[in-house]
Amino acid sequence: MKIHVTDPNGNSAELEALEGFRVMEVIRDWSSESGIGIKAECGGACACATCHVYVADNWAGKLPVMLDEEEDRLDEAFDVEPNSRLSCQLLMSEELDGLQVTIASDASVEIERVKAA
Ligand code: FES
Repeated sequence: MKIHVTDPNGNSAELEALEGFRVMEVIRDWSSESGIGIKAECGGACACATCHVYVADNWAGKLPVMLDEEEDRLDEAFDVEPNSRLSCQLLMSEELDGLQVTIASDASVEIERVKAA
């Protein structure tokens, strides 16, 4: 399965994803190939909000329900929109194959691409 990710500068990539992996992990694990980085400072513990992404509107209905913990953490992020989610709280499943997300500017980090995506 795949996800489509775009950074705040408009660079985008299609990334191979495995079932059960967090969207944040998929972005992070491919970052040196894609050149698209995500801070994700707490490593997925829902404790930092630096994995903030905007989910394309047509995917909203397929996303898992947001738990209070995620909502509380998102309150600490900047530029929160109705389609904001923490990508460490989104687990890949068949339902989310093809998911499109854009990394929020507060969660984006510059990564040097080491090889072609
Ligand atoms: S990685 Fe810290 S909240 Fe998602």
